[in-house]
Amino acid sequence: MNITKIALGKNGPQVSKLGLGCMRMSSVWGSAINPESESIATIQMALDSGINFLNTGDFYGAGHNELLVGKAIKNRRDDAFISVKFGGIVYGSKFIGLDLRPIAIKNFINYSLVRLGVNHIDLYQPCRLDKSVPMEDVIGTIADLIKEGKVRYLGVSEITADQLRKAHSIHPVSALEIGYSLADRAIEKELLPTAKELGIGVVAFANTAEGLLTGDMKAPLPASDYRLHFSRFQGEHLIHNLAIVEVLKAMAHVKGCTPTQLAIAWVNAQGEHIMPLVSMNRRSRLPENIAAMGITFTPSEMETLDSQFRPGAVTGGTYLQR
Ligand SMILES: NC(=O)c1ccc[n+]([C@@H]2O[C@H](COP(=O)([O-])OP(=O)(O)OC[C@H]3O[C@@H](n4cnc5c(N)ncnc54)[C@H](OP(=O)(O)O)[C@@H]3O)[C@@H](O)[C@H]2O)c1
Repeated sequence: MNITKIALGKNGPQVSKLGLGCMRMSSVWGSAINPESESIATIQMALDSGINFLNTGDFYGAGHNELLVGKAIKNRRDDAFISVKFGGIVYGSKFIGLDLRPIAIKNFINYSLVRLGVNHIDLYQPCRLDKSVPMEDVIGTIADLIKEGKVRYLGVSEITADQLRKAHSIHPVSALEIGYSLADRAIEKELLPTAKELGIGVVAFANTAEGLLTGDMKAPLPASDYRLHFSRFQGEHLIHNLAIVEVLKAMAHVKGCTPTQLAIAWVNAQGEHIMPLVSMNRRSRLPENIAAMGITFTPSEMETLDSQFRPGAVTGGTYLQR
């Protein structure tokens, strides 16, 4: 199947309608989850399949993830559109805060360029915003990096509609990276319409809602599972949520596909400017997830999903604080 290309934002660069999330190719400690060769082969197979949008972060695996992407795109830089998040400070296995100071950003970018082995980053974005540094300074610093040629386009991640408007007024925002799935639809009220109005592309991650929508999850989760930190995956919430996922499993059975494919296809169907960004850390995931981009819904199927997964239907919290 050919992966369609879309413009990222108004008159923006051409990127694949499906993005490859590389985060789960590295552990927070910086070591590879799979053999490094498998991760590199996955990125290269994605590029060969027409997926040019590669998503990483300088804090994913303490730089390991960028090194991995750098190895995979060596000698084929022009095939890839590289999106990098910065600003997240991870210590041990914990996300302990943000550093968005201009002086820090100027330091981060240089390390990212070296780890990736490139002269510029295509999309550069703070992973979150907070009040510690005025937004003018954060966005202004990225605008300076764009002028210097170290960055091509500005992105933002996990922000509110008001913050998005403000960021866009300081410098044109090309992409909003945001968690979005059948299980997490709160952004439909304000943030998605704002992005559409401003002509900003939407890079939608967590399409499977941390695996909830894959149909593979069973209650209770094993005690070692990190998702137990979030109430969505605990006790009665998980039992309730898995009962809703049965609707997705039944529809997938009828349509001859997998629940994950439907979860991705649903995000894909939400708009031409919305890109599903999916974690795949092995080659075997690619054919299934690429095929998901060809799945369409009848109006009645869409209605079923809309009502069964209406905003708020999936209960309990996640790390996406909405
Ligand atoms: N901006 C932010 O705050 C933020 C936050 C989180 C992530 N991200 C970015 O978004 C990307 C995607 O986010 P995500 O990893 O949270 O969500 P996701 O794409 O929904 O991935 C969650 C899990 O889905 C599984 N999966 C993928 N394809 C599957 C298939 N065909 N069948 C069954 N399971 C499948 C993967 O499992 P396996 O590991 O078993 O393959 C993965 O661990 C990340 O890689 C990262 O680049 C951004």
